Amino acid sequence: MFSKQSLQRLNQLRVTSSAARRSVIGTTSSFNSMPIRQFSSQNDGDEKKSGSSFYKFGAFAALSGGIATALYFNSASKNENTVVSSGPAVAYAATPDGFREVEISFAETLGEGEMQALKIGEANDQKVLVARYQGKLYSTGNFCSHFGVPLNGGMLFDDKVLCPAHAAGFSIITGEPDRAPGLDGIPSFAVVEREGKFFVQVPAEGLPKKKTQALSKRDPENKTHFVIVGGGPAGLNCAETLRQSNFTGQITVISREDVIPYDRTLLTKAVGGDSSKWSLRPADFLADADIDYKLKSRVYSVNPKEKKVILVNGEHIHYDKLCIATGANVWKPPVDGLDAKNVFFMRTNKDQTAIKEAAKTAKNIVVIGASFIGSETAAGFVTQFKEAKVTLVSATDVPFKLQFGEEIGKMMKSEHEKAGVNVETSAMLEKVNANADGSVKSVSLSNGNEIEADLVLLGTGVRPATEFLKDSGLELEKDGGVTVDPFLQTNDKHIFAAGDIASYPYWPTGSHTRTEHWVVALDQGTFAAFNMLGKLVPYGSIPFFWTRHYNKSLQYVGNGQGWTDIHIDGDVAANKFIAYYSNKNDQVIAVAGQGNTSGVLTLFEALHQNVMPKASEIKSGRETVESIKSRVKQNSGASRCKRANCCQKKNVL
Ligand SMILES: Cc1cc2nc3c(=O)[nH]c(=O)nc-3n(C[C@H](O)[C@H](O)[C@H](O)COP(=O)(O)OP(=O)(O)OC[C@H]3O[C@@H](n4cnc5c(N)ncnc54)[C@H](O)[C@@H]3O)c2cc1C
Ligand code: FES
Repeated sequence: MFSKQSLQRLNQLRVTSSAARRSVIGTTSSFNSMPIRQFSSQNDGDEKKSGSSFYKFGAFAALSGGIATALYFNSASKNENTVVSSGPAVAYAATPDGFREVEISFAETLGEGEMQALKIGEANDQKVLVARYQGKLYSTGNFCSHFGVPLNGGMLFDDKVLCPAHAAGFSIITGEPDRAPGLDGIPSFAVVEREGKFFVQVPAEGLPKKKTQALSKRDPENKTHFVIVGGGPAGLNCAETLRQSNFTGQITVISREDVIPYDRTLLTKAVGGDSSKWSLRPADFLADADIDYKLKSRVYSVNPKEKKVILVNGEHIHYDKLCIATGANVWKPPVDGLDAKNVFFMRTNKDQTAIKEAAKTAKNIVVIGASFIGSETAAGFVTQFKEAKVTLVSATDVPFKLQFGEEIGKMMKSEHEKAGVNVETSAMLEKVNANADGSVKSVSLSNGNEIEADLVLLGTGVRPATEFLKDSGLELEKDGGVTVDPFLQTNDKHIFAAGDIASYPYWPTGSHTRTEHWVVALDQGTFAAFNMLGKLVPYGSIPFFWTRHYNKSLQYVGNGQGWTDIHIDGDVAANKFIAYYSNKNDQVIAVAGQGNTSGVLTLFEALHQNVMPKASEIKSGRETVESIKSRVKQNSGASRCKRANCCQKKNVL
């Protein structure tokens, strides 16, 4: 549909979600809808103002995980300060003298493009981040809005800080989220100068943990109905972004699950955990945003001619714009015995709850498939259910050989073995054998082995959940993915697709691809929403993925499909390395790393900015992470979007 060259041109014009959120959503207008006091003039950090007339406003609500809601109300300093930077008019409601100032002791030595945590109190969480960008000092919260990891351990590129854990990005000017998985922003604080010294102004009552985006409410007069099918991360972020973008029509999210979206990535990593605590948002957040979640509702078909979604219960729902984000279904191999008791697949919270219950008394657990699902769950079983003997069955001679290459695969196998997992290699499941009472007894493998089992988990892959679209007239790929263009729009101009099901043009290679990653699903939900609103924002992000075994994360960026060569820097056995994956064109298409977060984030940014050197240059030592970092820094914003001129190329409305 798009040539590689045109996709690369498109990327030159692409909008990062930061630019998108700040320019497409429009911070000022979002906050206009907030019912809080009056507004001062907006300070975007570019102008210097006299402190006495400068006010910060806004309400901050920390909503996740039962963290109390906080409301701050600060007036500006009565001293004659010069405000050298501040977040824009957000995140604080003011009470006179409601803040205190902390001197930035390292202000003089902090260089351009550098950042550092500043202690503002004794406790560990009493820190803010201070960064210098284009000569000015800026300050934000130091803790990621995703899982609270300190951001000073991450990387600063231009005005954006990337979290070391899962690469969430935040603007250091405004604290706005730049890219998932952080759903919320981080607070931003004013920096003032007085008598040659620099101070951060922080709320006296305590530091806010997050900055939530303002959401518009539904206007009953606005009859426009946007429907989202699929209540996972892509569907949720689509709905939220619509409200963040001042959409005031009706939003209905249809989900066949019986709970609002939760963190699916924890199901395997915390297999013994309590998934009822993993909701991405509290229910009242969605209610406050007038987002109707229609739970336990399965879509049977879509009729684009009549603009209707038909549910299994016969209900017809009209839409003006539709986003399909139905994710994936587990793939069940065609073998006998899968209906035996205690044979499981892992996709939903219900699966995890049932698996956890069975694991409590299991003596012999067999995991079929050394996929991420299988491998993470095997690690979870052996560490969280210590009574059980755990066997992991890999179809290849080395697990993950196809994804990561032999050396890294061997390291992962050895980590499993060190933890006590028995790894069966070059073996496929042939049959599940049951006891007379119907419970699982053993598995028969293609290598001739029969392994005793009272719990079997199959991590045998997934397929796009799109069967209900087969007669819709929407263009589908051979694997069932929904074909979309860079605007995530299908061949029907009113219908968009996001997340695991979306087969989108991936500009670095020119091929259509689907990406089954959490961060991609969240970000695509955002971009689908922009384009449903006719903002014409192409999706051009580089995928980020992580997997976690035995308290060690492996980070992966790019898309390594079809890699032909691998070059490893570092020590794989010591879990400290970077692996570069390249194709036959000498192009680095993906990078994996452990124990070198700054390296992975640098290479992630290099892929984003399209300044990654040839694989042979890296292999020969001419280019290193350090030299690539300076390429990234020199390129500073050059390939960032200047408000997507490509938007003029197409009319999605
Ligand atoms: C156990 C597990 C661990 C993972 N770990 C990681 C990780 O560490 N890192 C990472 O990057 N990715 C991870 N992933 C992948 C990641 O979770 C997915 O890429 C992501 O959830 C996809 O989001 P989505 O919104 O597209 O689809 P989903 O999250 O699958 O949500 C789709 C929703 O649509 C609903 N639905 C489907 N069909 C219909 C229908 N016909 N009618 C109504 N509703 C329907 C589904 O029930 C579901 O609620 C993991 C996945 C799993 C299962
Ligand atoms: S903790 Fe920051 S991205 Fe996950």
